[in-house]
Amino acid sequence: MITVKDRIYTITTSNTSYVMHVPDDKNIENLHYGRRVTTNAGADHNGLIPTSDIIADPDTVRALTEKYNNPYGNEITGSGNITYNNICLEFSNAGTGDYRSLPLTIRREDGLISTRFEYRTCYLYEGLYKGSDSTGMPYAKDSSESTGEAKPWTLELIYENVTDESRAEEAGSKPGAASKPGQGMLELRIIYTAFEDCDVITRRMAIHNDTSVTYVIDDIASMMLDLHGTDFVLKTFDGAWTRERHVHDKVLESGIYETGSTLGISSSMHNPFFMLSDIDATEDHGDCFAFNLIYSGNHRERVEVTEYGKTRILTGIHPHGFEYKLRKGESFHTPEAVMTYSDKGFNGASHNMHRFITDHIVPSHFRNSARPVLINNWEATYFDFNRRKLLNLAKDAAKLGMELFVLDDGWFGERNDDTTSLGDWFVNEKKLGGSLKSLVSEIKALGLRFGIWVEPEMISVKSKLYEKHPDWAVSVLGMESYIGRNQYILDYTLPEVRDYIVTVLSDLLGSADISYVKWDMNRPITDMYSRGDTPPGQFAHSYVLGLYDVMKRLTEAFPKVLFEGCSSGGGRFDLGILSYMPQIWTSDDSDAAERIKIQGGTSYGYPASTMGAHVSASPNHQTLRETTLETRFDVAAMGVLGYELDLTKLTGKEREQIAAQVEFYKAHRLTLQTGEFTRVYNRHGRVIWQITDSEKEHALAMMYRESNEPNKSDDILYAKDLIPEARYRVKVKAAKIPVNTFGNLINMVSPVHIKEGGVAQAILNKVYIMDNESEEYELTGAALMYGGIRLNSRFIGTGLGDGTRVMTDHSARLYTIDKIG
Ligand code: DGJ
Repeated sequence: MITVKDRIYTITTSNTSYVMHVPDDKNIENLHYGRRVTTNAGADHNGLIPTSDIIADPDTVRALTEKYNNPYGNEITGSGNITYNNICLEFSNAGTGDYRSLPLTIRREDGLISTRFEYRTCYLYEGLYKGSDSTGMPYAKDSSESTGEAKPWTLELIYENVTDESRAEEAGSKPGAASKPGQGMLELRIIYTAFEDCDVITRRMAIHNDTSVTYVIDDIASMMLDLHGTDFVLKTFDGAWTRERHVHDKVLESGIYETGSTLGISSSMHNPFFMLSDIDATEDHGDCFAFNLIYSGNHRERVEVTEYGKTRILTGIHPHGFEYKLRKGESFHTPEAVMTYSDKGFNGASHNMHRFITDHIVPSHFRNSARPVLINNWEATYFDFNRRKLLNLAKDAAKLGMELFVLDDGWFGERNDDTTSLGDWFVNEKKLGGSLKSLVSEIKALGLRFGIWVEPEMISVKSKLYEKHPDWAVSVLGMESYIGRNQYILDYTLPEVRDYIVTVLSDLLGSADISYVKWDMNRPITDMYSRGDTPPGQFAHSYVLGLYDVMKRLTEAFPKVLFEGCSSGGGRFDLGILSYMPQIWTSDDSDAAERIKIQGGTSYGYPASTMGAHVSASPNHQTLRETTLETRFDVAAMGVLGYELDLTKLTGKEREQIAAQVEFYKAHRLTLQTGEFTRVYNRHGRVIWQITDSEKEHALAMMYRESNEPNKSDDILYAKDLIPEARYRVKVKAAKIPVNTFGNLINMVSPVHIKEGGVAQAILNKVYIMDNESEEYELTGAALMYGGIRLNSRFIGTGLGDGTRVMTDHSARLYTIDKIG
């Protein structure tokens, strides 16, 4: 709900308030963003709007307003002593005495006077921003009809540039004198949409040039938020290839903190999602703000702690290389920024973001549909496959209960390594031993669906496409471009390139029964220049718009196809991609221990249903670390499960394990894929995550242990988000422990005495596998949450008893939690 009364603007969500007012006829001051400050007091607007949503009482407003009885030393002041450098503003102009980071740098192309925007009026309506579709960018959707949630509300604050000479001349007066809205003006809109149920407010800006001169935008933020106070911790999610979204905390002090990407993609280096929390906040308590951007290209996040005890937060397109010319009649829209607040710590803010993404970002038809358990051939075969290998893999996958076979890189053109063929999206029938259609039919006959890998933004020099259209590769004035993974970028700013890709991929998807596409993107963008009409300063943004155009056309033409985003793993894990593709390959690093950091970090901003997570081989192909098959499953099951290893090489016992895992996952899939992900515990190398269904009747908890230190405290299983007074049954998932875990302690576990390290031990390992401990408890939700289950002792070299929990380094367990009364 948003209300406007007596020039007081109140955005109210279930638990938050965002309150603004006009202090001086020109600016809008932010009075409060945080915990809901409205109270219940009847109804207004003919009974339609509860007055609890309106702060119109002058006493409260006066109390919340910044006081300037004494101007600040040598600061610039406006009417009423407003100190521009020390007021929480919604928008701030250059050259007014506000020396903090600014939301807009814009100039007249002819170099004449700078702009000064003043607040004029506002529009308020139920529903999404009316101009959303014209932006060419994805935006948060209205899901009220399908979810029963409250309808979104939108507020547009209209500012007008008062320095425009042409307008002033038209009015026969000096610049700034003629402020007639709609008349040849340069107009700025700040657009807020409230998503009440998930406590999310989105914000973006739009500039419309109706003057006769051209303006140039050098820097424009989607969101500027000024907060009182500076005692914040900034949480960013950074890394690199195979190390995406690790959590980094910075205790803020005076100065500017900045993160972002200039790679042309949102990048594995710095995710656009970030958090700002109270210095004392924990996972469950304390003030926590979280921000994101619905965008997949260059982005910048900036937090400035000021000398006067305030904090300014800006997020939007990265200004690096950005220069946008705005001619008469043209508009520019920023991407939509997303913000939330929770007084329930990081988990509280994460839950808001998770719900927002599920209900308002991912395509609605995938919101609650079960995602298939897939087998991907990449780490099983890499480029080295033929029809027989693929079918053998598929046969095993089907036998083990998997549901979707994904044919990864190498099926097209002449691609047998990564030096060739990107752009030639034509089936290599020789390699596949026949047509794609016939392969798909054979795979479908096994009871599996079929999915395929593509990398449609790329072109290899060694390709038919490059022979025909070398000019379609991004390059500066035809010069040799920088190369990454032996490939160049296709110029998606060119309509003919986009049309070609849409046609060729539509033909591919129409040529066989394909129900899944993995959309990869394996190098950042360089040489940001187009041979077409796009000026260099607009290239990076236009590329992203081009990408969205292609993704929109394809996902709309094939609405049933499940698209999974990928960019060398999780290099483009953002809300823009998720608007078209409900899941993203989280990282090329599938090592369970590394995934704890990667999936754990990602969970702060994104729900488990968006994270592709696969069980792969051990030793792991990225880290050479050995982990048990059960541990690999336990961690992958906390995302969208897949397998990516050569199933044909498994032992009989491993097959049994995987079949049981897939069966377990399917039985709990609804909760795992649609439940709420919570970080329960993370200390001393022990991590607990929990996914809980909406009724709090069923949950799964994953406990991970980094190292098995002997003679150290035993493990305690805690939970969260349960009904305190309800009774729950907690049970460890049945799992297997290979006997070779015990090395030359083999006779401690062998049913018959055998010679250590001999052939018999190798054979035993294949034919015999131990059960894990069986532990089951019944207790109240309160006891489980606030007390915790003291689990059986771990193996520490003092013998193997009945219930000994055998935990090696980097191992995990899954527990089911079921309400029984
Ligand atoms: C990078 C992806 O992240 C991998 O999963 C795989 O699809 C390769 N590309 C294929 O080239």
